[in-house]
Amino acid sequence: MRIKKLNLQNFRNYEDETFEFGEGVNVLVGKNAQGKTNCAEAVFYLCTGASLRIRHDKQLIRRGAERARLCAETECRYGKLTLEADISESGRELRLNGAKVARAVDFLGNMKSVFFSPGELRIVQDGPDERRRFLNLSISQMSKGYASALLRYNKILDQRNNLLKERDVSLIFETLPVWDEQLARYAATIVRHRKEFLGMLAPLAGDAHAFLTDGGEKLELGFEGNYPREEEEIAEKLQKELENAYERDVRLGYTTVGPHRDDIRILIDGADARGFASQGQTRTAALSMKLAELEIFKQFSGEAPVLILDDVMSELDLARRKKLLARTEGVQCILTCTHAERVLYGTECHKIRISGGKIVS
Ligand SMILES: Nc1ncnc2c1ncn2[C@@H]1O[C@H](COP(=O)(O)OP(=O)(O)O)[C@@H](O)[C@H]1O
Ligand SMILES: [Mg+2]
Repeated sequence: MRIKKLNLQNFRNYEDETFEFGEGVNVLVGKNAQGKTNCAEAVFYLCTGASLRIRHDKQLIRRGAERARLCAETECRYGKLTLEADISESGRELRLNGAKVARAVDFLGNMKSVFFSPGELRIVQDGPDERRRFLNLSISQMSKGYASALLRYNKILDQRNNLLKERDVSLIFETLPVWDEQLARYAATIVRHRKEFLGMLAPLAGDAHAFLTDGGEKLELGFEGNYPREEEEIAEKLQKELENAYERDVRLGYTTVGPHRDDIRILIDGADARGFASQGQTRTAALSMKLAELEIFKQFSGEAPVLILDDVMSELDLARRKKLLARTEGVQCILTCTHAERVLYGTECHKIRISGGKIVS
């Protein structure tokens, strides 16, 4: 899978620029605040229909402009694919090969990418939200079933939480069972996918971590959530748990059980790494998880996704940089940095120099 061309119009600080990417390592070089991350963000947006940095698409439109347009020409083993997004104040339009896509779930995952930036250290450092976000963005690119279950689950969860804040308690107790059957069903789909994904991710991340630390440290990942095996049983258990939590939920005004509370356990040499690991350990663990994600995407779609490495090279020591580059052989890579020479050590690459939202070559 690779992206060949990317045209950005009124996207972030780009007025109208076209990037041409090569097969291997593409390096976006430039000083700070020139538009390197913006370009990486655009690629990720076309893969997932979402940005990692913001919640409102409006911020993606160049200040003073009315609409942003992103267009990528990509190629995967099934052929060529054009991905387009038109973003305006009033909403967005997504197109695949020129045809309008009505649902975002049909857009995402057509081109797949793994994104790694210093921000991903939050997966290890921060609270469970970040780890669920990682699961959601990753699994959604592989499974439309997951993406749509997640969308529906979140919608019902919002409605349920609003209902819990109602004053009319009898209305609450009448309505809850109606929501909960559906909620438990979508929850079970989410949980099953997460368990499967983590089942694959854990050994791969463990391998990657051993490789990066020369066997010096052991990384163990696990799913934190207590569920039975089968989707059907998960749904039944959750429905019961939701019911048992009625009074607590009403008292607190929100839903206290369900996959919106799940987490990933991260152990380094047997100790909880979440919030406790050193900066260096955190970086290695996060990178290992990303390399594992890359591997899963490869196995899943039979070809490598686009790997986006935003600003991470300068944070890694020389040995790890070399190891990372060795692992990405045969993978199209979009890498940003301020000094290409210092981070790449003669690795063959296609350099694109960026200054003030323009390509200067
Ligand atoms: N919507 C926008 N309109 C215009 N400029 C923007 C917009 N969003 C971000 N920028 C500008 O983009 C620049 C940052 O680009 P970025 O890609 O993050 O830099 P870097 O090259 O350091 O990765 C900043 O100067 C910021 O003001
Ligand atoms: Mg940047």
